[in-house]
Amino acid sequence: MDTLQTILTRRSIRKFKNLPISDESLHRIIEAAMYAPSANNRQPWHFVIIDDRTLLDQIPGFHPYAAMVKEAPVVISVCGDTRLEPAEGYLALNCGAATQNLLLAAHSLEIGSCWLGIYPREERIQGVRELLELPNHILPMALVVLGISNEIHSTPHRFRPDRVYPNHWPHAEPETGRL
Ligand SMILES: Cc1cc2nc3c(=O)[nH]c(=O)nc-3n(C[C@H](O)[C@H](O)[C@H](O)COP(=O)(O)O)c2cc1C
Repeated sequence: MDTLQTILTRRSIRKFKNLPISDESLHRIIEAAMYAPSANNRQPWHFVIIDDRTLLDQIPGFHPYAAMVKEAPVVISVCGDTRLEPAEGYLALNCGAATQNLLLAAHSLEIGSCWLGIYPREERIQGVRELLELPNHILPMALVVLGISNEIHSTPHRFRPDRVYPNHWPHAEPETGRL
């Protein structure tokens, strides 16, 4: 798939077919995540592949918007390493870039995905920390649900020319209302 087409047609997927994801696909998706940009090229990330059903089924117990995990074959936990990147803001940004790469790589391989927010919500961080037995210097940033999609989405219209300004912030305060 063409890169721009991949970016525009990716949608969050929350219904999955009862099909596995191959190890080769997982490898390629995580490799793509590791090619994300990072401050000072520190690459301060780790990825935990969760495919144990007893672990997967515990995720909705601490995450209120993760019901789809019960049907998904794999979840990847994107974790930041505070020893590699002590600035938490950079850690979150770097892991965010890696997470977006994960989603786009999955979509380009025709694998559906959904980003589940973890950081900065303390109760979700604690939930992942306990589930995966993470050491203190590892900060879970996101969970990415993966599976073969069982839903169809059209591409929404999102380009907002009124949010793009030439050279300076506009004199008339722009509307900041929701979509
Ligand atoms: C930081 C972040 C946290 C998110 N958390 C959740 C979540 O907990 N559960 C969920 O179903 N979707 C979650 N999403 C997905 C958003 O709901 C989704 O990206 C948004 O509605 C736009 O839809 P699209 O991804 O199909 O373009 C999250 C996305 C981001 C970037």
